[in-house]
Amino acid sequence: MMKKIQIAIDGPAGAGKSTVAKIVAEKLQFTYIDTGAMYRAVTYQAMQQHVSLNDAGALTTVAEKMKITLQPSAQGQLIFIDGQEVTQVVRTPAVTANVSQVAAHAGVRAVMVKLQQELASAGGVVMDGRDIATHVLPQAELKVYMSATVEERARRRFIDNEQRGIASTVEELQRAIEERDRQDSEREASPLIQAPDAIFLDTTHLTIEEAANEILTLAYDKMV
Ligand code: DC
Repeated sequence: MMKKIQIAIDGPAGAGKSTVAKIVAEKLQFTYIDTGAMYRAVTYQAMQQHVSLNDAGALTTVAEKMKITLQPSAQGQLIFIDGQEVTQVVRTPAVTANVSQVAAHAGVRAVMVKLQQELASAGGVVMDGRDIATHVLPQAELKVYMSATVEERARRRFIDNEQRGIASTVEELQRAIEERDRQDSEREASPLIQAPDAIFLDTTHLTIEEAANEILTLAYDKMV
């Protein structure tokens, strides 16, 4: 009987975390949990309700009051706010530009971390984000820190956007990624940092399949 372990994948924007995590989860028949989508959902809801993105108290209340649910589907993980599907709208450039500011508030993080820990409690999960190994699942059996050069990450986002019909330039995306990396790494509450016991995976020169296979090999080792 293979163990239903917890796999934590952290890293900066555009490193390929969600694409790779999805494949790993599918192969292992584990649940994939995209924590970035949860912070995006809070950001979207706050924007809809015209809540100031500097108002820590009001943002925490928004996070506490909304019901976030995740649901697997053939098209990937779907995300809902109070039963309404928001999978696409939480990925618009407007939400992307604001999410780091919202995710920096400790109160918002506390609400999200509790929900994430509940979702992972049964094991058999692949969770990706920024603080999974360091704060959400410090007991995870496998921790991976995925990164790639900022040029490569911007190139990947550009291709993503093209496929989704969003106009952008590589230069503008690189600047936006650098700014988000800076905010996510320099914030006080659970900044993006590699956990001391996480394995570093540089995906700059890896295909999606190669990166997924690296993680699967590590996972099988921990599952016996
Ligand atoms: O992975 P993503 O680009 O969808 O994440 C969106 C933002 O959410 C990211 O810029 C930082 C924040 N985030 C976080 O602070 N902690 C997490 N565990 C996941 C995401």
